[in-house]
Formats: sequence, structure tokens, C-alpha cells
Amino acid sequence: MSERLEDIAAAMVANGKGLLAADESSGTIKKRFDVIGVESTADSRRDYREMMFRASDAMTKYISGVILYDETIHQRAADGTPLVDIIKASGAIPGIKVDAGAKPLAGFPGDTITEGLDGLRERLTDYYKLGARFAKWRAVIDIDVAKGVPSATSIGSNAHALARYAALCQEAGIVPIVEPEVLMDGAHGIDTCYEISKATLTKLYTELYAARVVLEGTILKPNMVLAGKKSGKVSSPEEVAEKTIKLFRETVPAAIGGIAFLSGGQSDEEATANLNAINAIGPHPWKLTFSYGRALQAAPQKAWGGKAANVAAAQAAFAHRAHMNHLAALGQWQPTLEQAA
Ligand code: 13P
Repeated sequence: MSERLEDIAAAMVANGKGLLAADESSGTIKKRFDVIGVESTADSRRDYREMMFRASDAMTKYISGVILYDETIHQRAADGTPLVDIIKASGAIPGIKVDAGAKPLAGFPGDTITEGLDGLRERLTDYYKLGARFAKWRAVIDIDVAKGVPSATSIGSNAHALARYAALCQEAGIVPIVEPEVLMDGAHGIDTCYEISKATLTKLYTELYAARVVLEGTILKPNMVLAGKKSGKVSSPEEVAEKTIKLFRETVPAAIGGIAFLSGGQSDEEATANLNAINAIGPHPWKLTFSYGRALQAAPQKAWGGKAANVAAAQAAFAHRAHMNHLAALGQWQPTLEQAA
């Protein structure tokens, strides 16, 4: 594979393939395992992820890359093969989450700032040697309008951190996924999501330009424009598609390598239907695909339940979701394909 940043970025969003976000921190994966009654240990986390990376049908046809957590990029499969080698053998690109998480922003209750810039240059060099060719940094923007959240300071600080991270990645030969996630957890309506996402993306690209980041060698990982969960409203795929594309046309340069959405708490099928509606109203200046965590893994987690006997069923559940999202990335998904499974 070519090592030019723009080629890596293009491969990440090519041919209706998308990313598997398997980079849950040890705290987050424990929460997921609690739901299925599995104890979270280094071995159970390894077994679970090995199950997905060895799902060759899903991996070879639908997955362009996998975002890993620090523990996983160092782990070996039960037979001693590095997990990174299993991913590469499927044709997918290994990636790595490099931020250290969102922490409370001093002076701004309710806002967070993502940390992890200290020592990042050295960590990126190590991850490159381990095989990572792209990285992820997630900024978190919550919405609580009555409390003045998010503040302009939070949007600005997070955009600045994303730009410093992206410049360091490119210096190391690694494609940065820039993820400014506007959360869908609040009680806001879809138009508030649009406004806050617009302010966030505008600031993000201002900072990326200022940091001399080469846009062709970046991938944007955005939220879709949606009503908040506590609003009691579910936006239709057509409305999500129309407002999300309007937002991107106004704020996201055509030059970037591509767009890979987070699922953010949408149900599996909602995340697929919305991605499909977005692509169905194309053509667009960018490829728009998936970089889903929960919306790809909820079904295989449930099918697996920590039992070796369930590995084949879990791999089939993963392959089905990956296939549905692959079709959505091409604008070719139909609800009837879900029932057929
Ligand atoms: P979700 O798809 O579960 O939102 O996770 C994607 C991700 O990587 C968030 O950083």
C-alpha cells in the first residue's frame, strides 16, 4: 500500500467501505460487557476483539480500517499472532485512538476539553512502528442551551487541540481522523444541533488551516444533525440528510479525504437509515461512510455473550451490520434487507 497521506485517507472511505471503531477505553468496554454479563479482563477484551477481526467476510468486504485502543494494538491473538497482523491480513488498515479523554474544562461547568497532546509526538512514532497509519482524536461538545453549554471557549479550545493533534499526526506519516462530536444526549431540537455543529465545524477548519494541516490527508468524523435524545423527537432520515448535507456544504472543504460518521447513540438501524438517506441525495463533494462503534458492535456483543460457542453467530451479526452500512455508504440500502436477515 502506498504511504502517502492522501492515499491512506482515500482508502479509508473507498468503495462503500467504512471504519470499525473498536477503540473503547477499558472503562467504556467494561460498561458494554456489563450489559452482556461478561467480566472485562485483558483476555476477554482480546477474545472479543479477535472474534471481530477474524470475521473475514465482514472485514474483507466492508471494513477499510479499525480504530484500536492502546491495549489492543499491543495484544496478540490466542494463537500468538499480533491482532494488528490479523487486521492487515484482511486488507484493513490499523488505526489508533490517541486522545486521553474529555476532562472538565476549568471555569466552564458542563464543558469539556480533550487532553492528550503532551508526549503525543513520541507516542505517534511508536504507533507508526506498530503499524498504525491513521489516528483518532475525539472532542466532545455537549449541548445545554439554558446553561450556556457549549461556550465559545470550549469550541475554540477543542478545535485548537484537534489542529495541534492533526499536525503532529501528519508529521508522523499518520492520517488524523478529526472528530468534533456534538452529542445527541441533550433535550435540544434538530435546529440547535445544526447551529452548534456549524459553529464547531467553522472553528475546526479555521484552526486546521492555521496549523497548516494538509486537508487531503485528513478524515472528518462528525455527528449527524439530529434532535437530542431527551427532546422526545426522532428526526426522519430525510430531514437528517437534508440538514446534515446543508451543514457540510456550508462548512466542510471539498478538499478533505472524506467523511466517516460516528453513530453517537443512534440505534443500529437508525444509523444505517440516516447514512443511506445522506448518500441517496448525492452526489456530494466527499465520500460519506461510517466509523461506527456502538451501531456496528451492539448486535455482535449480544450474540457473543462471552462464549466461544457463539463466535460464529457473533461474526455473522457483525457481518450483517457491516453489510447494511456498506450499502448505506453507497445509498443502496433498503429496510426490507434488514428483515431478510
Ligand atoms: P459510536 O459510533 O458508538 O458513537 O462510536 C464512535 C466513536 O469512535 C466515538 O468516538
